[in-house]
Amino acid sequence: MATINYQNATVSLSEQVYEPAEDSFLLADSALGIIMDDMNVLEIGTGSGFVSAVLQANRKITLLATDISPFAASCARSNGIEVIRTDMFKGIKNKRQFDIVIFNPPYLPTTEEEKVPGWLNYAFDGGIDGRREIDPFMEEVAGYLKPEGFILLLVSSLTGIDEVRTKIEKRGFITQVIASKKCSFERLVVIKGICPDNN
Ligand SMILES: C[S@@+](CC[C@H](N)C(=O)[O-])C[C@H]1O[C@@H](n2cnc3c(N)ncnc32)[C@H](O)[C@@H]1O
Repeated sequence: MATINYQNATVSLSEQVYEPAEDSFLLADSALGIIMDDMNVLEIGTGSGFVSAVLQANRKITLLATDISPFAASCARSNGIEVIRTDMFKGIKNKRQFDIVIFNPPYLPTTEEEKVPGWLNYAFDGGIDGRREIDPFMEEVAGYLKPEGFILLLVSSLTGIDEVRTKIEKRGFITQVIASKKCSFERLVVIKGICPDNN
């Protein structure tokens, strides 16, 4: 299986696990620009563990990740990431609180016919509008953030950038687009959302 070397990190890939692409690189680079030593970081939907591995290779941080897919959890673990196989935040004990929570969600608008077989579908399928996984994420994330904490969320123009910002702002977060990249058929952005307690 392939191996990726990026920003001092080496990440091995495996079957049925999302292969890091432009979205992963943009999120990793943006997170590196913001995350400092000694921070507590949570990554939801870590996949191969690529973004977390880049952060761990370059910062002295405490990092925990989750993924719903057993294939992804096992792959990320083999890449040195502490990962819980769970749906969103469910398996995180003791309501741990983090300085930053990052998420590159499955964001593609997907019909029943467009689903891909197996666990890999969880990497792509954002429901009919591409925003299905953002609701449960936003419902819970504030409970896992320190008062000064924030989120970094990767979103595509296919998902509806303004619609996602509105969803985040409805929860009281202040949003800002901190990175943007035009790719072949979409624009990718990273949205930073500052927790309401810090407004
Ligand atoms: C677009 S991939 C991103 C993978 C990796 N973070 C990256 O940037 O390369 C989305 C990941 O989220 C995971 N995922 C989807 N729904 C999830 C959920 N409800 N809870 C946890 N992980 C989920 C998928 O299994 C997949 O690994």
